[in-house]
Amino acid sequence: MKGIALIGMPGSGKSTIGRLLSRYLRWDFIDIDEEIQKASGLSINEIFSHYGEQHFRTLEKEILLKCTGNNRVISTGGGVVIDKENRKVLSENLQSFYLKTPLGALFNRLKEKKDRPLLKGNLLQNLKELYSERKNLYENTGTTINTKGLCPEEVAAIIVRHLQIEDTPISVSSPVHPFIVGRISLSKLSNYPTVTTKRVWHIYKNFITPEKLHITDDGEAVKDIKNIEMLFQKFIQWRVERTDSLVAIGGGALTDAVGFAVATFKRGCKLINIPTTLLGQVDAAVGGKNAINMAKIKNIIGIFKHPEQVLADPSFTLSLPYERFAEGIIEGLKMGLVASPPLYEFIKANLKKLKDRELKTLKEFVRLGAEAKLRVVERDPYDRGERMILNFGHTIGHAIESTYNISHGSAVAMGMVFSIAASRKLNTLKLKLSTEEEALSIIQEIGITPKLEIKPECLWEKLLQDKKIKDGKLRFVFLKDVGKAVILSISPEQLKSVLEVGVNEISGN
Ligand SMILES: NC(=O)c1ccc[n+]([C@@H]2O[C@H](COP(=O)([O-])OP(=O)(O)OC[C@H]3O[C@@H](n4cnc5c(N)ncnc54)[C@H](O)[C@@H]3O)[C@@H](O)[C@H]2O)c1
Repeated sequence: MKGIALIGMPGSGKSTIGRLLSRYLRWDFIDIDEEIQKASGLSINEIFSHYGEQHFRTLEKEILLKCTGNNRVISTGGGVVIDKENRKVLSENLQSFYLKTPLGALFNRLKEKKDRPLLKGNLLQNLKELYSERKNLYENTGTTINTKGLCPEEVAAIIVRHLQIEDTPISVSSPVHPFIVGRISLSKLSNYPTVTTKRVWHIYKNFITPEKLHITDDGEAVKDIKNIEMLFQKFIQWRVERTDSLVAIGGGALTDAVGFAVATFKRGCKLINIPTTLLGQVDAAVGGKNAINMAKIKNIIGIFKHPEQVLADPSFTLSLPYERFAEGIIEGLKMGLVASPPLYEFIKANLKKLKDRELKTLKEFVRLGAEAKLRVVERDPYDRGERMILNFGHTIGHAIESTYNISHGSAVAMGMVFSIAASRKLNTLKLKLSTEEEALSIIQEIGITPKLEIKPECLWEKLLQDKKIKDGKLRFVFLKDVGKAVILSISPEQLKSVLEVGVNEISGN
């Protein structure tokens, strides 16, 4: 595929976004300014002051021509578009993207920088002049990406969505519901009434184009009954019929909420889930559990109804902040530990590429993750037994989350550390020390477990109120081996000793 060139004003983020793209696509990254400095042995300031701008432009042109090619990401200098031949190369031999950035943002990013010869003196004035000279050249050379209000990961994700990536989606075969992972063209779904969230819309608005579109709140707020009522009102206004399919594009909270509304509207319409978080792709949007919150109780009202299909495009997850993205790796790791040795082995072997969000690795991770979940759901569709193993790490995780002010993902990661350590403590399970150490080091490397002083007695109180308590005993998921989880009922005394060992592990004692 033709290489990518990023063009735009100094400070528009070309190098940062270029590096992200090169990681996602596993393409080489070339920074033209760096190449010029390497080739000449001089800094950009030195080239300008010793030889003048024209000499710099000649070097720039030579290097651009030399570097142009397939499967690479090129970050160009701000003035590359001044030259007509450069513009031809950029628009014909490369896929060029213009990072359009407000002048105020450029000013803030550049005010401490001293290495831009054309910006010396009155920075704002110089930026304004350069911008008015180059604006049309940028716009006529590359596809404009308006970066206002977007972080680098979000801009890079938008660029990836623009690319004509050749990708054959993979279908995970399951009697539960169809699950397809790979490149998804949203324009093919524009005839369906669609619900998405504000953040997802803000990032992907140029690609989400249905006539019937409802944009709802982000995060847990979408699972509030007031939001559900608004969804029903929209469905009535759209004259949704019972046989109609709707589309949900968003994270797990959105797919849960829309799943609930669609499952109950006219006693059940159809839903195409397009999960946009990694957690949604491997877990929340898969398997037909749909729940909303009420009276501050999470998932208290819900219904089982499978989506008509789930279309998971891993490239959506490129725009997530790392911590949110890592929550998805943690959920996948959980799935691997309790139900799928191949998934666990895949994570172990590919953790660096996974953390780098290399698209091919992500696709395989999502495929294996969804497959593992679907197999469990196949055997226990209504969550009456085995499906409970998917709570591994979550019981303690929820207790930690509600006691300490940390994110859900970090709490679940800590809950897993805890549950693995506790599984070793139970001699009857015979969990190997090497398995414990390996799993704990993977969690550590995912990098979202904070150093936290945990007091066992606080967790103890929380756990005793857990909804899974029955006849005074707590149903708890332990690990025998990778891919082998067991559900045991444990007494308060056992729970106490198990808590202490887990707390020691988390606190590093
Ligand atoms: N039904 C199930 O089986 C199941 C399983 C696990 C979790 N869940 C539910 O899933 C929810 C958590 O889901 P989540 O972790 O996906 O979080 P989320 O849905 O709350 O999304 C987190 C944030 O990320 C934003 N976002 C979504 N996609 C994005 C993208 N591609 N780029 C940038 N931002 C994006 C969202 O708008 C939101 O602000 C919880 O409500 C939980 O109860 C359900």
